[in-house]
Amino acid sequence: MYCLGIEGTAHTVGVGIVDQDGNVLANEIEMYRPVEGGIHPREAANHHAERLVPLVHLAVDHSGLSFKDIDLVCFSKGPGLGPCLRTVATGARALSLSLGVPIVGVNHCISHLEIGRIKTMAQDPVLLYASGGNTQVIAFANGRYRIFGETLDIGIGNMLDKLGREIGLGYYAGPKIEKAAAQGSKLLDLPYSVKGMDMAFSGILTAAVAHRNRGERVEDVCYSVQETCFAMLTEVTERAMAHIEKEEVLLGGGVVQNKRLQKMVHEMAEARGARMYVPDRTLCMDNGAMIAWTGIVMHQSGIRHSLASTVVDQRFRTDQVDVTWR
Ligand code: FE2
Repeated sequence: MYCLGIEGTAHTVGVGIVDQDGNVLANEIEMYRPVEGGIHPREAANHHAERLVPLVHLAVDHSGLSFKDIDLVCFSKGPGLGPCLRTVATGARALSLSLGVPIVGVNHCISHLEIGRIKTMAQDPVLLYASGGNTQVIAFANGRYRIFGETLDIGIGNMLDKLGREIGLGYYAGPKIEKAAAQGSKLLDLPYSVKGMDMAFSGILTAAVAHRNRGERVEDVCYSVQETCFAMLTEVTERAMAHIEKEEVLLGGGVVQNKRLQKMVHEMAEARGARMYVPDRTLCMDNGAMIAWTGIVMHQSGIRHSLASTVVDQRFRTDQVDVTWR
């Protein structure tokens, strides 16, 4: 079985082709980059609409297959930005109808976990999912992927992007903040915001910008933000692992490329006698292959979606999905 998956929840549009064993035959990705400011949802959707058809052709070419070999079409049903989701869903419906194959709508957050499970040795991990729009600690328990902790306001990547803009590092600031943080050494006072098992990042952003406006070095501001926020993520992840007695931690999302975050989580895992897994970069970030693979496991477990049920859901919760494949 060959599945073509389309991702388009935020700034990335991606088309992946995966077989029933989880082999990734193609994984094409393009990212919308605003000239200034953050993501404008309609502009991102226009970008995806322009790039989707070429990416579908590119993915089929790179896979060595032809369109008639595709058995299933999947797409990111949510959560995400409405205009982007609707654009990608429209493309997926058109492709499903023209090829005469079934369509499955996939929860984006769960797909980060499923691609990690098939592509690493992780069997039953706690997922630390840290990206622009999403920050969640997820694990399987009692028939569902449950959220054990999450952001109460903005995603950590969103916060880092806003910080980058405010202190002059430009858009897509994560890698620039990581580089600057490596030169920092002074730990500035920031509000460490873990509330129960949840986290909040917007107050840290406000406090970090205030430090910069008072003349603190960019390097020290970045260092302090990383140390504080990554400690929060690591703490919540560790508490989830302890609570449900899991011995594996899987990383997913764009922010987990940060080596300082990986080091903190790795040290935590090692101290607990647990293991950390990080998928390859192109499978960690938003991509079509993770959507395709999750669609395959869903379809193989008997899940069928009618065209009418492919309406997108901007607030599609991880724990809304009945996990029939585990
Ligand atoms: Fe994501």
